[in-house]
Amino acid sequence: MNSLQHPLFARAFARAVGGMDRRGAAEHRRRILAGLHGSVIEIGAGAGSSFALYPSTVSRVLALEPDHYLRGVAQQAAASASVPVTVVDAAAEQIPAETGSADAVVASLVLCSVKDQAGVLAEIRRVLRPGGTLAFYEHVRSAHPLLARVEDVLTPVWGRFMGGCHLNRDTLAAITAAGFSVQDNERFGFAVQRLNPSLAHILGHAVSPGPPG
Ligand SMILES: C[S@@+](CC[C@H](N)C(=O)[O-])C[C@H]1O[C@@H](n2cnc3c(N)ncnc32)[C@H](O)[C@@H]1O
Repeated sequence: MNSLQHPLFARAFARAVGGMDRRGAAEHRRRILAGLHGSVIEIGAGAGSSFALYPSTVSRVLALEPDHYLRGVAQQAAASASVPVTVVDAAAEQIPAETGSADAVVASLVLCSVKDQAGVLAEIRRVLRPGGTLAFYEHVRSAHPLLARVEDVLTPVWGRFMGGCHLNRDTLAAITAAGFSVQDNERFGFAVQRLNPSLAHILGHAVSPGPPG
């Protein structure tokens, strides 16, 4: 089994994501997808929870999902998607798309889980055309120093049970460091389940200058 297979987490996530969406995540997804158009790549599509929310201005979605179980769930969701969606077995470190070919890349609750966040952001830049959009919805490191320290301490254990998720990443800074210009960003607290603690989230859009030189 490769390191991108998390059978227990995948099954638990697939069961929980509907409740999470009803608590507000679906509305967050809808907000990053509104305004996208043309050819879109979604990395780490999970159960395909965004598929029904794409606007009709999107002509096609290439959805990457490396986990075997979640890919099966996403393939079923693709059948009732609002736009044509193709689900493939691929990781964000090596996106199966031509350089500069995508109008937008969608990253929803996945940049917390990829091993090499800077490498993935460089790969997203590679596939985006100049002026293309990175639409992001991610939980991030707390702005409160004490809570951020708690996130640092919890992350090694948390990640083991939560599909490699890091609680403590400053993803907005990483997006900027990768060369993107942040166009809009909203930061807010959100608890994915009723009894879960609220985590800092970011939601917005960043523009790519084009593939790295
Ligand atoms: C918390 S789930 C989020 C799923 C979905 N994006 C959503 O918003 O519901 C994290 C997802 O990232 C995927 N993932 C983890 N590492 C990845 C990688 N290197 N490349 C692509 N997807 C990855 C997992 O398989 C899982 O589907």
